[in-house]
Amino acid sequence: MRGAAFDRFGDLDVLTVRNDLPEPPVGPDTVLVRSHAAGVNPVDLGIRTGRLAGAYPHHFPIIPGWDVAGVVERVGPAVHDLAPGDEVYGYVRRDDVQWGTAAELVPAPQRCVARKPASLSFAEAGALPLAGLTAYQALTEFLDVGEGVRLLITRGAGGVGSFAIQIAVALGAEVVTTASPRNESYVRSLGASEVIDPSAGPISEQLTEPVVALLDLVGGKTLTDALTVVRPDAGHRLRRASVADTAILEHDGWYVFVRPDAHDLAELARMADAGQLRVPIAKAFPLDQIAEAQRMVGEGHVRGKVVVTL
Ligand SMILES: NC(=O)c1ccc[n+]([C@@H]2O[C@H](COP(=O)([O-])OP(=O)(O)OC[C@H]3O[C@@H](n4cnc5c(N)ncnc54)[C@H](OP(=O)(O)O)[C@@H]3O)[C@@H](O)[C@H]2O)c1
Repeated sequence: MRGAAFDRFGDLDVLTVRNDLPEPPVGPDTVLVRSHAAGVNPVDLGIRTGRLAGAYPHHFPIIPGWDVAGVVERVGPAVHDLAPGDEVYGYVRRDDVQWGTAAELVPAPQRCVARKPASLSFAEAGALPLAGLTAYQALTEFLDVGEGVRLLITRGAGGVGSFAIQIAVALGAEVVTTASPRNESYVRSLGASEVIDPSAGPISEQLTEPVVALLDLVGGKTLTDALTVVRPDAGHRLRRASVADTAILEHDGWYVFVRPDAHDLAELARMADAGQLRVPIAKAFPLDQIAEAQRMVGEGHVRGKVVVTL
C-alpha cells in the first residue's frame, strides 16, 4: 500500500512516502476507506515528534493524519449503514496511533465516519472533520451558543477558528474574534462582526463591550486576558472553554478535547450542504509533499486549512 509513514519520532526528515506499507486490518465494525484527501492538523506534528507519545499507544511504522475523505472500499460485517462505493469523510482517531489517513487505505471505526457533504470536494471534506468537530462540540456541548449570544473566539483565522466563526454565526451568535490585520477581511468574510488585532494590545483594552461566552484557541496570556472580558449571562453557567490550554480548568471553564462522532459529522455535512459552512483551503499538497504540508502547518500562519491529496 502507498502512503506516508515514519519509523521513529523526529523532524520532518523521518516522514517518507513509500509503496510497501502493509494493508491495514479491518475489524467487524470498521469501514475501510480509500483515501482521496487527508487534512493536516497541528496534532500531526505532535505525533511525529513524539511529543504525544505518552498520550497514545503507538506502533511503528506510523502513518500520519486523522482527517480523511474518500470512498468506502470494504466494510466489516457489523457495519450496516455504509457500503462499498459510498463517499465518506471522517475524523479517524483510533485508540492506538498507527493507521493514519495519509495512505491509500484507512481503517476507520464506524463511529469516526459519516457521509461526505455532497457540495464539498474531497479536498474540502478531508480538511473539515477534526477542526470542524472541535469547533462544533465546543460551541454546542459546552458553550451552548445560540441566538443573540455575543461570543469571543481567539485565533479566528486558523482551521478551528474558521469553522467556529461560521458555526457560531449559523447558530445565531454575534462573533468577535482575534486575527492579525492581514486576516481581518478574511475572518469578516466568515461572519465575524468585530475583529481584534492581538499585536495591538490586550483584548480587554480593545473590546467594545463584554461578551457572554469565550472559545479560546490560543491559551497562555491570551486566555488569561480573554477570561476578564466574559460576563455571566442570566440562566447560564459561565460559558468559557479552551481547546488549547488546560489552565482554563482553574478558572471555572471547560477544557475541550475533540472526539470522533458520526452524528456530529452528519450535522457538519448538513451545514456545509446548506451553505452555512465553507472550507477555506490555504493549500492542497500532493501526498509526495506531505513534509511540506506539515512544515506549513508548523509555521503557524495557515489561513483556513492545509490538506494532502491522494
Ligand atoms: N483540544 C482539541 O481537541 C483541539 C483540536 C484541534 C486543535 N486544537 C488546538 O487548537 C489550536 C488551534 O488549532 P488550529 O488547527 O486552528 O491551528 P492553525 O490552523 O494552525 O492556526 C493558524 C492560525 O492561527 C493564527 N494565530 C496564531 N497565533 C495567534 C494568536 N495569538 N492570536 C490570533 N491568531 C493567531 C495564525 O494567524 P497569523 O498568521 O496572523 O499568525 C493562523 O491564521 C492549536 O493549539 C491546536 O493544537 C485542539
